[in-house]
Amino acid sequence: MAIQWFPGHMYSTQKAITERVKDIDVVIELLDARLPGSSANPMLAELTAGRPTLKVLNKQDLADPARTALWLAHYNALPATRAIPLDASQTTPAQQIVKACHELSPNRGGLAKPMRVLICGIPNVGKSTLINTLTGGRKAKTGDEAGITKLEQRITLADDFYLWDTPGMLWPRIIVPKSGYNLAASGAVGRNAFDEEEVALELLGYLKANYAAGLAARFKLVELDAETMAGMKDEALLDTIGRKRGALLGKGRVNLQKAAEIVMHEFRAGNLGRITLETPEEFAVWLADGQRA
Ligand code: G4P
Repeated sequence: MAIQWFPGHMYSTQKAITERVKDIDVVIELLDARLPGSSANPMLAELTAGRPTLKVLNKQDLADPARTALWLAHYNALPATRAIPLDASQTTPAQQIVKACHELSPNRGGLAKPMRVLICGIPNVGKSTLINTLTGGRKAKTGDEAGITKLEQRITLADDFYLWDTPGMLWPRIIVPKSGYNLAASGAVGRNAFDEEEVALELLGYLKANYAAGLAARFKLVELDAETMAGMKDEALLDTIGRKRGALLGKGRVNLQKAAEIVMHEFRAGNLGRITLETPEEFAVWLADGQRA
């Protein structure tokens, strides 16, 4: 699936990250816990030149807890990396984040050597929400101070702990086709960049194989047990859901566009249950397939 790509925006973001990272002790990479692999920007590791990294699996309230545990174990096994789950909108995450950063960079701290952290994440991952929670809504410092460029924000979490917000937009770099679908399903890419019916069909294909109970409960698919649903074509499932929800055109035909929008809305809102669209093993296979193709 072709998803629009914004190299113009990316160029300035890349340059700004490369400049700032020289004075950074820890990089916080905000990921969507429902699609950790796909919501990572593969260029970031290169841009941040091996700095210790805290992977924050945000929106964990919407993700499958068993799979979040798998992803945390996967990341925590990497060198110079820690991973924590988060719900940026509900909790007070400052202590967790501060503690994890000190573990990653134990020599920093105190007024002479303040901890300097850069926070990065693709659009819609929850960066503004998190920054807002961390600052309690206070305005962060921008542009008007020496050493802070116009595009940047510096957030003071403590006298000896600074958080720098990545300037510009770190767009996802879609190198795996399945990642394109998962990013579209999550709401990370604009509506105009993809075909909703195609994304909904792909999503249903995954959900019927992995989360059939949540799907059946939400759409009242009482006549379909998991086995029947698994054997159904994705198109037939979308058609059934459209009919159940009254998304009809004339002569009893289903409005598949409307049905697709319903499926995606229900997924994004968490109404189909707590769902994660990829495991570390699955993502590794997609990546390997993508590299072979
Ligand atoms: P961004 O700056 O990274 O682009 O993301 P932002 O904070 O604007 O968050 C995007 C959406 O995700 C917001 O929903 C926000 O409330 C929601 N969100 C952020 N963190 C969490 C979390 O941990 N759990 C849950 N459940 N939601 C979270 P929104 O304002 O309704 O926007 P949208 O739905 O129109 O995208």
